[in-house]
Amino acid sequence: MRRDMTRRDFGLAAGAAAAALSLGGPASAEGQVAGGGQVARGGQVIGEGLVTADITWTSDDPHLSGNFASIGPEIEARDLPVIFGRIPPELSGAYMRNGPNPLFKPLSYFYPMDGDGMIHAVYLDNGKARYRNRFVATASLAVEKRANQAVYGSFAHPVPVDPTLLRPGDNPGPFKNGAFINILQHGGHLLALNEATTCYEMTMELDTIGEWTAGTGAPISLGAHNRKHPRTGSLFALAYTWRNPVVQFHEIDASAKLVRSFSLTMSEPTMIHDFILTERYIVLVAGPVVFDVQAAQSGQSMLQWRPSMGTRIAVVPLDGGDPVWLQADPFFVFHFANGFERGGDIVIDYVRHHDFGGPAGTTPLHRLEIDLASRRIRDTALAALTVEFPRINEAREALRSRYVYVPTLSDSLRIPSPPSATFNTLLKVDTETGESARHDFGNHIVGEAVFVPRGGQGEDDGYLAIFSYDPVAQTSDFVLLDAARVDSEPVAVVRLPQRVPQGLHGNWIPRS
Ligand SMILES: [Fe+2]
Repeated sequence: MRRDMTRRDFGLAAGAAAAALSLGGPASAEGQVAGGGQVARGGQVIGEGLVTADITWTSDDPHLSGNFASIGPEIEARDLPVIFGRIPPELSGAYMRNGPNPLFKPLSYFYPMDGDGMIHAVYLDNGKARYRNRFVATASLAVEKRANQAVYGSFAHPVPVDPTLLRPGDNPGPFKNGAFINILQHGGHLLALNEATTCYEMTMELDTIGEWTAGTGAPISLGAHNRKHPRTGSLFALAYTWRNPVVQFHEIDASAKLVRSFSLTMSEPTMIHDFILTERYIVLVAGPVVFDVQAAQSGQSMLQWRPSMGTRIAVVPLDGGDPVWLQADPFFVFHFANGFERGGDIVIDYVRHHDFGGPAGTTPLHRLEIDLASRRIRDTALAALTVEFPRINEAREALRSRYVYVPTLSDSLRIPSPPSATFNTLLKVDTETGESARHDFGNHIVGEAVFVPRGGQGEDDGYLAIFSYDPVAQTSDFVLLDAARVDSEPVAVVRLPQRVPQGLHGNWIPRS
């Protein structure tokens, strides 16, 4: 991921965004009306309903090629072949994963910030597996289906939308909400999430219900990464915007109703993809990536890496107390594994990006320790490898945790110069001993692994669900590993009925 977010690209993105936005379009980045319309692809209208044929357009963009290329058919297949091991019969639920899957050839594309959400689900019941995939039927995708072409530009190259293609209430652009980054369940609601905008509620069978309101009567903005409180079951969500230097947090209770919102004022609008929740605090780690509209208007990057600012860390008490601000050397974080309180310390495990869009380098797993009494910070490397997409057993979220499951890349992947966010090995890092075990998938590409609990109390008593792609055979598998023994043979390998492109984030949705 890091190698692609070059400073130049972000500069182009920011400048183009500012240019587009200066055309006088409405401030809203997303319309409120989810239109219907015909499903179209490759210039050919194929009728109302599901996309039934594969994508025919191609692209030279490495993040639209190989296993990053979109797929078209929305299908379902039952009794999938188990080609190795067996599916534990006690597992009842679905592994769901979201990811960018543009239906129409993009006018421009900026991985991983663009695309139409497509959710791939593997339903497990009684030792059998069923597969289903569906686009997230966003308001923006409805406009493009009606136009039978891409209408919106990308984060890198937004374009003014032809007003003749829009109906009243449509998203006027220039940005699109594809709801493609994550999918999670809270209070019985299944949510497809984008970055810092509205999210879409889905059914377990992946039909799109519409923009979610959290009981407020109006669509609510949630970030792609949100965290559940271990005692109350509340979901804490992050919302931010490039327009002003305010970060907002929402607390959505266990019944899925918004109960409070509170905000934190920054010195400048800042890009923040993820945050940390502990039992008593929110920790906001704001790397020095700031939105600068004036810079964009003068042709420079709107997203400015300003290392002289350092990384600002806010420890925000959940009881309403004043935040404590700390200062650290400059670094950036896309994803945290977990954070928790330990005595008077807050411990945070995360993937450290040494800068933002600079020369390629490692993005290792780190541990940040904050001594709240002395306000001192200590930072150490846990695994000095290039990693991303860290996950834990979410039953330990905001509580003391030991194991981090995170993909990395080994030289057994034989694809020449794979694009960023390409991994073939899953690491299980023991943060107490510093040791790690690995499952090397060889010449297969994998992504984020999701913990599937087995019902025991042990932190690693469960399975790891992961999609695997064979670039030679061009087949995809659903793989379950034993989380306690990741270096052992898989528990089960299920052959999927079609290729599953590389995606972003997912979760295990237990059958309720
Ligand atoms: Fe993310």
